Amino acid sequence: MAHQSARRTEPQGEHVLPFTDHREPLLSLADISLARNGHSVLDRVSFDLGRGETLGLVGESGAGKSTIALVAMGLLRPPAVTLEGRMQFAEHENLLVESEAGWATLRGRRIAMIFQDPASALNPCFTVGRQLESPLRRLLGFDRAAARRRSIELLESAGLNDAEARLAAFPHELSGGMQQRVMIAIALACNPELLLADEPTSALDVTIQAQIMQLILSQVRARDASCIFVLHDLALASQVCDRIVVLYAGQVVEAGPTESVLRRSLHPYTNALKSCVIELDTETLTPPEGGLPAVGAMPPGCRFAPRCPRASAQCASQTPPLRSLEGRDIACWHPG
Ligand SMILES: Nc1ncnc2c1ncn2[C@@H]1O[C@H](COP(=O)(O)OP(=O)(O)OP(=O)(O)O)[C@@H](O)[C@H]1O
Ligand code: SF4
Ligand SMILES: [Mg+2]
Repeated sequence: MAHQSARRTEPQGEHVLPFTDHREPLLSLADISLARNGHSVLDRVSFDLGRGETLGLVGESGAGKSTIALVAMGLLRPPAVTLEGRMQFAEHENLLVESEAGWATLRGRRIAMIFQDPASALNPCFTVGRQLESPLRRLLGFDRAAARRRSIELLESAGLNDAEARLAAFPHELSGGMQQRVMIAIALACNPELLLADEPTSALDVTIQAQIMQLILSQVRARDASCIFVLHDLALASQVCDRIVVLYAGQVVEAGPTESVLRRSLHPYTNALKSCVIELDTETLTPPEGGLPAVGAMPPGCRFAPRCPRASAQCASQTPPLRSLEGRDIACWHPG
């Protein structure tokens, strides 16, 4: 399959370049739409993730970033939500129709997740050792002694000192940074092909955020795994992600290689996000005015139109399709 979104439209007469077709896709989301209680949360979300790539999902609070991560982890499924589209993963043609038994062979083993808040993601009633050894025994068939040895190795590679003694600790006996290192060790225990990291450092002290990001990156690269980072911080995304997907109100508005999307963004919303980051060569902070439209009250046409300085009559009535332009995907009637 070509490393491109299935529904991309290419207007006649426009100079269209495909973006980053050099890596075989591991994960391919095509027209994923998700609704809760009849209200659209994701609308035709499409992007590919290559093998060995790191991809950043960015956008303001409520854009749908965590929802995408939960769908990719198989944790948000009907009947809790309605879900349409196709999610191809490795040899699986469409994980949206995968059975729970099928997901049980993937989740935690081939697809793993690091959550934002390790204190709530770890089970407070079980020791670190039990939470680490359990997936090794259940998913990989390790016996007790082998699982214990491997757990110690995993904690050491996650940067926890005195790893053997930590096995007997309960989560509340560890600091936030140590808990997140345990979470990383658990997520990587089965050498997943895909790691989802949802704001993995935002619950942590700023002094250890860089260490944890570095740890995740080095562990992912050592395994040649692919990673989706959910990030608020565009500057951080520019440092760690090969490609960026910008989400607005449940839709992909711009996606492509990090360098081109952030250095020369074409979508007014990406520009607005950039203007909030001093490090990206902007002189003043000019955050976009207003907020996301409420779920269930999306405006017609372009969802960003009520906040967009470039909005035209066409924008207010017609939804811009996601199309290829200058080596990226973009959904805007007046890019540039
Ligand atoms: N459990 C839930 N029940 C109802 N609506 C929800 C639930 N979780 C998320 N939503 C809604 O779905 C939309 C997308 O939420 P999501 O958590 O995916 O956003 P996000 O981009 O991850 O935001 P943040 O940056 O704040 O984490 C939001 O409008 C949110 O209010
Ligand atoms: S389609 Fe129109 S309103 Fe939407 S981002 Fe582009 S210029 Fe702005
Ligand atoms: Mg979130």
